[in-house]
Amino acid sequence: MAQPDYAALAEAALAARALAYVPYSAFQVGAAVLTASGRIFPGGNIENAAYPMTVCAERVALFSAYAAGEREIVALAVATDTADVASPCGACRQVLFELAPHSTVLLLNLRGARRLTTPQELLPAGFGPTQLGEMGR
Ligand code: THU
Repeated sequence: MAQPDYAALAEAALAARALAYVPYSAFQVGAAVLTASGRIFPGGNIENAAYPMTVCAERVALFSAYAAGEREIVALAVATDTADVASPCGACRQVLFELAPHSTVLLLNLRGARRLTTPQELLPAGFGPTQLGEMGR
């Protein structure tokens, strides 16, 4: 595949951010996933009065892509209104490590800061399906 259209992916993440359901934290996060088929799956964080039920934007977007049958994630963008780009939470790093292992992650804020990273850089020596394979499954 040619170089991902990061500008389009960033726009999708910014648009998803505006749709976040955040009555408790008021902290809007937008994500967008680009798949090998060229589709973009957006997702904002979705909170709940039972706070731990909250799902981060990254996982909403990733699960949405997987729910549509997509398996090859090319890139994922995450947009926040923070001084610097935001750092995905540990749970999302774990999910990214398995569901988007070969992807590029674009972190951005509303002030023009951009940073490219990878699931491996975000979660070095992460636990994944390989370890389960070593248990003989
Ligand atoms: N959140 C995300 O959606 N993604 C992140 O990478 C960090 C945190 C959400 C969870 C919660 O709705 C709000 O941001 C405050 O933690």
